[in-house]
Amino acid sequence: MRGFKDILPLDSMKFSYVRKIFEAVSAKYGCDLIELPIVEDAELYFRTSGTDSDVCQKELFEVRRYKDEFSNWVLRPEMTASCVRAVCESNFLQERKLARLAYIGPMFRYNRPQKGRYRQFIQAGWEFFGGSGIEYDYELILGAIDFISHFDVKFTLELNNIGTAADRTKYREQLSGFFQDGRDPLRVLDKTEDCSNVPCMKINDEDRKKFDDLCKMLQKSNVCFVHNPYLVRGLDYYNSTVFEIKIDGQAVAGGGRYDYLASKLGYKELPAVGFAFGVDRIVDAMNFKVENDKIAVICLNEANYTARVVENCRNAALNCFVFWGLDLKKALTISSKEAYNFAIIIGENERISNTVQLKNLNTKEQKEIKLEDLSKNFIDNLFRLI
Ligand code: HAM
Repeated sequence: MRGFKDILPLDSMKFSYVRKIFEAVSAKYGCDLIELPIVEDAELYFRTSGTDSDVCQKELFEVRRYKDEFSNWVLRPEMTASCVRAVCESNFLQERKLARLAYIGPMFRYNRPQKGRYRQFIQAGWEFFGGSGIEYDYELILGAIDFISHFDVKFTLELNNIGTAADRTKYREQLSGFFQDGRDPLRVLDKTEDCSNVPCMKINDEDRKKFDDLCKMLQKSNVCFVHNPYLVRGLDYYNSTVFEIKIDGQAVAGGGRYDYLASKLGYKELPAVGFAFGVDRIVDAMNFKVENDKIAVICLNEANYTARVVENCRNAALNCFVFWGLDLKKALTISSKEAYNFAIIIGENERISNTVQLKNLNTKEQKEIKLEDLSKNFIDNLFRLI
């Protein structure tokens, strides 16, 4: 099926790695993970992303029971609206006032498949609820940069402030003379690559000051960014701060403030700021092989002894993949190709002497170690020494 892909081992190791980093950075910034349904009512997106957004115009997948006529259910194209729905429906914020949610999971958009654009893709995002100060924007952006910095990719952070709804109404009027093609001029601007002659948006004094203060805070933390005055984002729910992180000109993350999304859904006003990364795009851009954290155990006709060795290893918290009955050369070739760092090789001599051969697959060094030494600490030290 076009736009859908199978993620098999080796690639899946990269996805797991990104997830691991995401969970670690999320914990560091005080976020709690949430899981929400993949199916939502279409109305949720019509009321928040904007009926004329790409997401609502052409990208929603409808879900219905096989052979049923009609349903209003769709596969989620993004998580921000679902998060707001979930926290507001549950009264979760009534006591806490503030919350930081993190999510990682599949989203669905029916768009034309191309490089970095899939119909099922994984987003990893944060939503900070309850805080209206720019300190929240600052910390969220800092976290996004912390996260993306783990992947050895060159990225740029683009920042803007799109003011209030009134600012954008004025700007739309100004731009309608400029673009003159009948569509919402902000949508046209969002898709325009060369903006050199396009007038910039004028925003109110309060947001102007917020933008300056946010820039100063980021600069003080040595966060590099560029001000892109034409960055408007393709979803309707944003106000004030918006940003994107790009790799080779393609957005790997987008986010910003959406203080009025909850009230658009009929709930009490709830200040909020968030972002979402496209995990597939991070994986596509990653320049390094993720280390295989398993040990390749190669059993050369010594099944019972190997079973004992593997039990010892697993008790010592070492992850083992056992190559039962595969010849040594083949097993070593596969383990090297699959980025294993270490192999344990077990033959008749090892059984007789109660030892194993530990091979470093990167340096090709090999050492004999005693079976009783297969404790985690001993192996950790030995690994470090090799
Ligand atoms: P978005 O800009 O639509 O924002 O998507 C965020 C990221 O998801 C994009 O920068 C991109 O990396 C990835 N992405 C989007 N569509 C695709 C696709 N078809 N294939 C692969 N990756 C894709 C949002 O979704 C907002 N909910 C972000 C947000 C969170 N704003 C506030 N909180």
